Amino acid sequence: MVPAHVSIIMDGNGRWAQQRHRERSYGHREGAESIRACIEAAMEAGVRYLSLYTFSEENWNRPDEEVKGIMNLFMTFLGKEKENLRKNGIRFLTIGNRNRLSKDIREGIAEVERYTAGCDRLTLVVMFSYSGKWDMVQAVNRYREDIAAGKADPSQALDITGFEKYISTAGIPDPDLLIRTGGELRISNYMLWQCAYSEFYFTDILWPDFRKTEFRKALDSFENRQRRYGEIN
Ligand code: IPE
Ligand code: IPE
Ligand code: MG
Repeated sequence: MVPAHVSIIMDGNGRWAQQRHRERSYGHREGAESIRACIEAAMEAGVRYLSLYTFSEENWNRPDEEVKGIMNLFMTFLGKEKENLRKNGIRFLTIGNRNRLSKDIREGIAEVERYTAGCDRLTLVVMFSYSGKWDMVQAVNRYREDIAAGKADPSQALDITGFEKYISTAGIPDPDLLIRTGGELRISNYMLWQCAYSEFYFTDILWPDFRKTEFRKALDSFENRQRRYGEIN
């Protein structure tokens, strides 16, 4: 089966550049090419949702220059890819803590989201300034706001479905397949709630080298997984 939702922790840009005695920013730029390749491979395979861990809340703690470089890359992506996304039927969404993003980026995101809102071949979700713990806390806070506004009843206990409505990815199915490139065996505060039953695929390949063939290898691995969800079939 083809996974409906593939999510990727795109790691290893810095090491890739280092191996070539270049600046880390070179790795981030080449990594952007891998994004393009994986979008194409995902569409060819019939994947419906592709989410990408692009910048974590913890990544704000990197040196200013690197953070600025990543912000500029994202801004360029928004400007350059807007037409392409719509032409290819790709709905674009960004999820994460927007409080720290500049006005330019927030407006850029809103514009591309609006421009591609009617597309339905693939939903591309850029997880930006995102962390799993932030996600849960924002869910609780939005629930509190609903209570204050009389839209939620505090005397009723929340169940899982009720809570899920407040999670940032509400309406998007949980990832079936979670890929992490770059060799680390951890999820670095990513989609803590949503990955409850995701299949994991870890590879040593550094993100700028993760192109179509590698993406297809991950899909092949998924094909052979037996998902049991706690049952015994
Ligand atoms: C992933 O690559 C991209 C971001 C986290 C923004 P890294 O920049 O973490 O690359 P490595 O892990 O240092 O090689
Ligand atoms: C995870 O990579 C975040 C993204 C890929 C955006 P990191 O490089 O930030 O993760 P750690 O620090 O090695 O856990
Ligand atoms: Mg890293």
